[in-house]
Amino acid sequence: MAKITISAPGKLMLLGEHAVVYNHPCLVTAVDQRMQVTITILKDSIFELEAPDVDIKGYKKSLSSLGKGDIPKGAKFVELAVANFRHKYPFQGGIHIETHSEFSSQFGFGSSSASTVCTLKALSDLFKINLSSKDIFDLSYKTILDIQGKGSGFDIAAAIYGGTLYFLTGGKKIVPLEARGLDLVVGYSGIKADTVSLINMVKEKMNTHKEAIDKIFDGITDLVEQAHQAILEKDWERLGTFMNYNQDYLEDLGVSTEKLNILIKAARDAGAYGAKLSGAGGGDCMIALVSPETKEKVSQAIENNGGKVIKVSLNAPGVRIEI
Ligand code: PMV
Repeated sequence: MAKITISAPGKLMLLGEHAVVYNHPCLVTAVDQRMQVTITILKDSIFELEAPDVDIKGYKKSLSSLGKGDIPKGAKFVELAVANFRHKYPFQGGIHIETHSEFSSQFGFGSSSASTVCTLKALSDLFKINLSSKDIFDLSYKTILDIQGKGSGFDIAAAIYGGTLYFLTGGKKIVPLEARGLDLVVGYSGIKADTVSLINMVKEKMNTHKEAIDKIFDGITDLVEQAHQAILEKDWERLGTFMNYNQDYLEDLGVSTEKLNILIKAARDAGAYGAKLSGAGGGDCMIALVSPETKEKVSQAIENNGGKVIKVSLNAPGVRIEI
């Protein structure tokens, strides 16, 4: 039986979250905690999924009912990815999928996007459909929008390309940046955030206070452009300052939490160049930009203030075939 295993990295948003949903740029970096997806081709026309990390065990349905009916949350992204692929590139026979993640889906590292990317890459290789990275991006992005309705696709880009990227909504620009030396401490706030409700909350504000929100997004864009330059110059001190200013805007937007603010302040007081929440907010993780000298002290400060430090290694390669 033909079989393939694909892996893709998780991600952390450096600057630009929320604004990037509204046609503004952001900076994202991939983390080398990987999602792994193994697909085996079956004779019978059936779809099987084992995703124990998200409580999916023994999930089975006919290929013709893919994407229909009540789909459990943990199965949605992989199932819709297969449905979208099959709609575009019809294939015979069934498939058995197993997913395994090196990171908890609670952290907001982008497990849904990484599993979507892995699934599409695996299917294209198994069925010998020659898809470019951009083709995989477009099909993955469609899958995310089918499920969430809104989103920028930055997490998909990180899973596909890896490294550090300057990214514009919907993949209109995806520019790899050389960012060796960038070092982050990641602190989990202990609360799982719901990205879609936060996106909707900002959308609501956009409807009622468009001018104010546009101003915030323009300010964030300025910071992203300057931070882009700081990364190219490896000026970590300046990058840290821009992260701090970005956090101010996120607080104005109302997406930070008391717990995140406490961890961010602790990291700054302990000597981080800068610190901010990373992602949708409402929980998940904060990030602190550190030097080799301040890393341990910043990690300690986050732990002492009730955060959980998650060890990550940066500069992660994008989606790849494992076996
Ligand atoms: O919740 P996360 O970590 O996937 O980050 C969401 C970032 C947003 O800008 C709010 C949404 C998006 O798709 O860009």
